[in-house]
Amino acid sequence: MTILVTGGAGYIGAHTTVQLIEQNHDVVIIDNLSHSTIEPLRRIEAITGEMPRFYQGNVQDRQLLQLIFQRHNIEAVIHFAGSKSVGESVADPLAYYHNNIASTLVLCQTMSRFNVFNLVFSSSAAVYGNNASVPVLENMPTQATSPYGRTKLMIEQILEDLHATDSRWSIARLRYFNPIGAHYSGLIGEDPQGLPSNLVPYLSQVAMGSLEQLAVFGDDYDTPDGTGIRDFIHVVDLADAHQKSLHFIAGHPGLHTFNLGTGRGHSVLEMIAAFELASGKTIPYTIHPRREGDIGKSWACAELAKAKLGWQAKRTLQQMLQDAWRWQLQNPEGYEQPLLNQPIPLRMAS
Ligand code: WQD
Repeated sequence: MTILVTGGAGYIGAHTTVQLIEQNHDVVIIDNLSHSTIEPLRRIEAITGEMPRFYQGNVQDRQLLQLIFQRHNIEAVIHFAGSKSVGESVADPLAYYHNNIASTLVLCQTMSRFNVFNLVFSSSAAVYGNNASVPVLENMPTQATSPYGRTKLMIEQILEDLHATDSRWSIARLRYFNPIGAHYSGLIGEDPQGLPSNLVPYLSQVAMGSLEQLAVFGDDYDTPDGTGIRDFIHVVDLADAHQKSLHFIAGHPGLHTFNLGTGRGHSVLEMIAAFELASGKTIPYTIHPRREGDIGKSWACAELAKAKLGWQAKRTLQQMLQDAWRWQLQNPEGYEQPLLNQPIPLRMAS
């Protein structure tokens, strides 16, 4: 199939593009490179031997989208493009509502105009907000607690209304828990702009020595060691779920929602110990007060994705962290570093 991947130069977008190409799909990427560079596309070519067709621009650019649909026989869309920082969304909610919602409206209008109705949407466990009970199930109440989370929830509701009025739409809303890790080649990975806000990129930079120590946000949660618990999932497992979702919606027109997690939670202190094992480095840390907006514990029930998609996360926590560390070691400056001095992986069975 020819798949349009919006935000395909991003962390999850690039990993998903690799999996799609390796499953013999043709991929077309649109990305405004606001949080990335062209480098991930070069790395995708180094891994797969194929450079995806690429258009630099905003998904809100109706003319550009129409050009893409006119030029390519797009059969389905995976929609990653959007702003994704919780903290940033609190500081600038209008920018988040405009960017994330407007781009989705223009995308869906254009898809409909070209009779393309298969859509995989990148949602987030953030839609559950401070939901107390774990494991989290898809039918539990949603109550986003940040403008970022509310944009994801609003888009989920827009897609629900879309399907309700036009049954030709076949949609998978994928609620990610905590994606971490990198492709085993170390050529693509998570490249946060500036100071990382997420745990694993921060751990990686402390292990490298570019950051002094980790601030552990709170040790007074109702968890065994008092620190926050999350469901960390390998980004390649997540990418595989997108490929399986594309296949599923092609054969099951409707509106579908899936949690994508491992079903297991790990605390911050457990992650520190696991990262020390994976990297062989000591991670200095200090305990700080809780971070505004954080929840104590969150992990998925991923049984629905297993039953419907035939998908479940395969990679262990050590694999996730070893892959994250390899990416960090090979790319101390992230994508700033050109490909030329990167080892090109022998093509291994995935
Ligand atoms: C994980 C745990 C922190 C950093 C966020 C977004 C979510 C999704 C994934 C987009 C928590 C603790 C973290 C640090 C710490 N993004 N921590 N020190 O907050 O679960 O989810 O990223 O979809 O929407 O909210 O991930 O990695 O920031 O935090 O102690 O320097 O690590 O308190 O318990 P989070 P995270």
